[in-house]
Amino acid sequence: MAFNLTDEQKMIQHMIREFSRKVVAATAAERDRTKEFPADNLKKMSDLGLMGMMVPLEFDGSAADTVGYVLALSEIAYSCASTAVVMSVHNSIVCESILNFATREQKEKYLKPLAMGKMIGAFALTEPHAGSDPVSQSTTAVRDGDEYILNGTKRFTTTGKNAGLIIVTAKTDEAMRHKGISAFMVEQGTPGLIVGGIEDKMGLRASDTADLIFENCRVPAGNMLGDPGDGFKIAMKGLDGGRIGIAAQSVGVAGAALDAAVKYAKGRAQFGRKISKFQGLRWIIADMATELEAARQLMLSAAAMKDRGENYTAQASMAKLFASEMVNRVTAKALQMHGGYGFTKDYPVERFYRDARVFTIYEGTSEIQRIVISNNILKDKRKP
Ligand code: CAA
Repeated sequence: MAFNLTDEQKMIQHMIREFSRKVVAATAAERDRTKEFPADNLKKMSDLGLMGMMVPLEFDGSAADTVGYVLALSEIAYSCASTAVVMSVHNSIVCESILNFATREQKEKYLKPLAMGKMIGAFALTEPHAGSDPVSQSTTAVRDGDEYILNGTKRFTTTGKNAGLIIVTAKTDEAMRHKGISAFMVEQGTPGLIVGGIEDKMGLRASDTADLIFENCRVPAGNMLGDPGDGFKIAMKGLDGGRIGIAAQSVGVAGAALDAAVKYAKGRAQFGRKISKFQGLRWIIADMATELEAARQLMLSAAAMKDRGENYTAQASMAKLFASEMVNRVTAKALQMHGGYGFTKDYPVERFYRDARVFTIYEGTSEIQRIVISNNILKDKRKP
């Protein structure tokens, strides 16, 4: 491959590949059926340092770079996309936002246990009437002495039920539009924070997606992340990194679908020969592998830009856009190659197909990614 991985990045990839295919894969189909949260996987992943991958050693993290992180995340997604999305939101959005915006004291209190996997993080931005347009959110936070009182409802919060800490955005100044949104770190169990309905989803079934209801929920003012009005910026920056994570999830699931399709095509005989001998299917395999490789390169290059400290907003959106659309095509082709068996639960491709469907939707739809990419191109002063 064109991208030169360092020895450390290769080591991470090989180690997590082995772990994922032996341990995480073993329960993925069953979890998809039972919707059981992957707490035991996450515990083992914490022991391997996967829950604070990009957190510096001084805050008990693994101090890996983003390239190493996306390689690890895609290996987890190869085996279980539900486990991967928990890892992704926790690392890419929650740990990164706290690392970038929290005070030293807040990092000691929250980043350390998060990085050790002692608590899982969630990020609550979306609301019932504010999805693609988070500026129109209506959750409020009103200062009262040393506390803020939160009221409102957050929707589609990944790990909303099982998280120990939730980064919540809320309006502290209605008139200021996006500059009037602030972010708070809210501990699960805080009085007034109620876990509402859990979605019954077509995919990623072992990852809980919850409504979080805030009813006069009092949060210490010291739990604000960043300054008043920083909430939208924190969310956008968090989503930049999160979107590379969704690209990594897409690459992982597409890799699993491609491998499953190749295995099936080599084993299945029709018309007196293995179906892998038919040119029609060989060309489909070639297209699947090519677009998977293109997505992998976009993912790695966005991650490397982040590691170099460059502005990677557009590249993260390109990687997310292309990889999430790619995995929907690749899983559909893998299922088609399995014929009628692909439509059954005897083979894993129907799960890959269902899990992949949300990748073009969450952490910004494909349409939002196109807005982000075109905005960045059009405002680039180096362009004509
Ligand atoms: N980094 C830092 N700052 C950013 C930024 C970025 N990537 N993107 C925008 N900003 C800043 C801008 O610079 C601007 O700041 P100033 O006013 O100081 O100049 C400000 O934010 C407003 O920017 P825009 O005018 O571009 O904002 P907008 O309202 O037009 O929205 C948007 C832009 C890209 C459409 C954005 O609203 C967006 O990304 N929407 C999708 C939200 C999304 O992805 N939601 C999914 C959440 S995932 C989830 O909820 C589930 C889960 O569990 C993870």
